[in-house]
Amino acid sequence: MKTFNFTVRTSKETRAVLGRGMANIPALFPGLFRSADKICLVTGTDAPNSLRARALELFPESRQRHFYFRLPPSETAKTLEQAGKLCAFLFDKGFSRNSLIIAAGGGAVTDLAGFAASIYMRGINWVSVPTTFLAQIDAGLGGKTAVNLAGAKNIAGTFYQPALAVCDTAFLDSLPHAELRSGTGELVKYAMIGPVELARTVKKNLSKVLTGDKAALTSSVSACAAYKLKLVSKDERDETGPRETLNFGHTAGHAFEAMSGSRLPHGEAVARGIRFALIASMKTGLLKREAFTDLNALVSALRLPPARAVRRDFRRFLGLVSRDKKARGANNRFLLIQSRGRLKAAENLDPALLKEAFEGALK
Ligand SMILES: NC(=O)c1ccc[n+]([C@@H]2O[C@H](COP(=O)([O-])OP(=O)(O)OC[C@H]3O[C@@H](n4cnc5c(N)ncnc54)[C@H](O)[C@@H]3O)[C@@H](O)[C@H]2O)c1
Repeated sequence: MKTFNFTVRTSKETRAVLGRGMANIPALFPGLFRSADKICLVTGTDAPNSLRARALELFPESRQRHFYFRLPPSETAKTLEQAGKLCAFLFDKGFSRNSLIIAAGGGAVTDLAGFAASIYMRGINWVSVPTTFLAQIDAGLGGKTAVNLAGAKNIAGTFYQPALAVCDTAFLDSLPHAELRSGTGELVKYAMIGPVELARTVKKNLSKVLTGDKAALTSSVSACAAYKLKLVSKDERDETGPRETLNFGHTAGHAFEAMSGSRLPHGEAVARGIRFALIASMKTGLLKREAFTDLNALVSALRLPPARAVRRDFRRFLGLVSRDKKARGANNRFLLIQSRGRLKAAENLDPALLKEAFEGALK
């Protein structure tokens, strides 16, 4: 087991543990669990039974029994209505400011349960237990919580760190191939934004991750989680630059996801958003052709299925990117790339250039 301790500058200390087949987490963090008067385990209705069984090995019931709350599947969980239902459930069961939420699931579950934890009684402790590959390398760490609004992604949310994040790669044994592939969308992002050693680790593991190789999954989670936590500790609220690099590919990616009615998995949308950013970077002259070919090969290695669920509606795309929260009032704002690890924000890009990138990304 590997333990990361990190302190975020603007809020409370938060810890993360990583390993495979861990058990009895409360014994490792007695202070956090002993002080909890009630515990609610939040999972998704579409999670396999093995997920709940593993979660109970990590968090066995002790002196107090757990309460259980199940969210609707995947992205349909990320609504204000569901956050309200979870808060009302907690209130009904007598949860106080000393109570604890454990969110065990993919990024949709950790985003929604973290959001509810941040607003219930103005904030109670929560533990993030990401159970998909994507959530273990990204979504379940860093304290960004959110719900979707009006067909757009993550429009209402908070920065609210979990008191503890637990990444147990044994959860990944039950993950379907499509979810592994979705996670690799975020994995290739790290190879583009991170230092050379991280890029090497990603390239070494990429094809093995797609086959569910346990060692490659654990090595990738360890490297990416450590890097993400480092960026979060430098720039928790995404204000000073380091954390923004994690959004690479996400402006177009979120638009593709929204334009598919959430049928395109998040990681596949991000992979297509990364291809969009690579094409736009080359068309603006920032990225040389040889570098484009190298970086684009990583996206091609994912062998993405056709993005049939995304409607080819460029006007809607322009509308969505102009209202993206990262646009900060510009017509559009994208993170472009000059070379691995060197990213640059560009605003108000020409719609003709964007259209070429849009079509190339969805090919
Ligand atoms: N907060 C952040 O920093 C951040 C970062 C990246 C992505 N996200 C968000 O994360 C979400 C995507 O997360 P995701 O890719 O985990 O998708 P998801 O949460 O929709 O889960 C995908 C599917 O995997 C199932 N599943 C979960 N764990 C499983 C397991 N161990 N075995 C078998 N099936 C399992 C779920 O039940 C679900 O059907 C998006 O909403 C995205 O916006 C948030």
